[in-house]
Amino acid sequence: MVNWLIEEKKIYRQKHKKSLELWKKAQKQFPAGVSHNIRDFHMTPFELSPPFIASAKGSKLFDVDGNTYIDYWITHGAAILGHAHEAILKAIAEQLPKGNHFGMVNEQSLVLAQKIIDATPGIEKLRFCTTGTEATMYASRLARAFTKKKKIVKVRGGWHGGNDTLFYYVKEVEKGMESKGLKSQQEAGILSFDYNDIEGFKQLLEENKNEIAAVIMEPVLGAGGAIPPKEGFLETIREETTKNDILLIYDEIITGFRLDYHSAQGLFDVIPDLTTMGKIVGGGTPIGIIGGRDDILEQANLQKDGEVWIGGGTFSANPVSMVAGKATLDTLEKNKDEFYKCLNDNGLKIRERIDEILNKHDATAFVTGVGSMICIHWFKERISELKTSSEVKLNLDSEKVNRFQLLMLNRSILTRSGFGYLCTEHSKEDIEIAMMKLEETVKIITQNS
Ligand SMILES: Cc1ncc(COP(=O)(O)O)c(C=O)c1O
Repeated sequence: MVNWLIEEKKIYRQKHKKSLELWKKAQKQFPAGVSHNIRDFHMTPFELSPPFIASAKGSKLFDVDGNTYIDYWITHGAAILGHAHEAILKAIAEQLPKGNHFGMVNEQSLVLAQKIIDATPGIEKLRFCTTGTEATMYASRLARAFTKKKKIVKVRGGWHGGNDTLFYYVKEVEKGMESKGLKSQQEAGILSFDYNDIEGFKQLLEENKNEIAAVIMEPVLGAGGAIPPKEGFLETIREETTKNDILLIYDEIITGFRLDYHSAQGLFDVIPDLTTMGKIVGGGTPIGIIGGRDDILEQANLQKDGEVWIGGGTFSANPVSMVAGKATLDTLEKNKDEFYKCLNDNGLKIRERIDEILNKHDATAFVTGVGSMICIHWFKERISELKTSSEVKLNLDSEKVNRFQLLMLNRSILTRSGFGYLCTEHSKEDIEIAMMKLEETVKIITQNS
């Protein structure tokens, strides 16, 4: 291994002694030491531990070794108000003495549901569940039942959680199946197309339109690479799905309340039939939402000839998530003009800065994003345009991705999925420091590749 990398590993090891101890224990308790595969933060290839986090506040994470990080991962993009926001803590603290879970209907869930319905053009009715993974599975089930058709179309690279319905064509953009133990994609009835490929989509539709129940997609491709829709893409998909009696499901688990108070569908003014949400709407507690047109959701009304079981779960609509979600949406709504302008402007400025840095150092990397979603793609070759969502996976240089992660962590910047997300607590200084450390990192990676 090259000297500079040996040195970086040494620095990391010295700074993370306690995390490394905990990591050894974790290996005995969990496969690969984690309960979520991506939480090793690319440290496994270096035989290092991810930092074990002890606490968090605002834009910062503090690990068990006393290191502080400026956090651009902010809980998988969920903590749009930053960590431990006062309004959320207050709402939870007021709720807890009254009961942390009832397992019964409660008024708190009505309040949050109404806020979501009022804010989201495509949601007339909804059901709560506990994760985004459940939400997308239930939305697909609703679509199949409603249209009486079997196939679901998804975007290559699109992540909708690990459920058996949709865990196809995420990293394995050519093969389809992402895990052993799943049905083949043919048996599962999953078809795929590339994000922004209007012609590819039309052809897929032409060949399969009578069998397709729904197209599920993120309006802005999220974990698949923070790729914005090109002009006319969302509109064409909306038109074509309507024309062919196919439901359009927007998975807004990342984009919901992130790009705009009215979510991506409000921002782009393209309204889906069904919407899934999660992350931000739970205010840092577990949540999933399946929402959409009244007539489609009413299929879940088993009292009124409904036939589709969706939503629920032991912890669904628990009052802690309901009040945490309400506190988040109240805060966003109250400050919406200022917050979203600031998040979106900062995102744009950061992408411009990153672009300059990558060009200056002739890095084989490319930056994408929309609003406060930012992603740096490390590729094997330098490119000037990202043409398809498959390209993100096929050309990925995972060695450089791992190195980027290690070097940024050593410089106290926590990034993931290329960079991450902004929250309202990121200060000008947080951004300046991140850009400075990023330039240092890009320079080292580029000079040594
Ligand atoms: C777009 C999208 N859909 C679904 C999911 C799954 O949500 P959860 O992790 O809450 O199950 C995620 C999670 O990252 C996501 O980004």
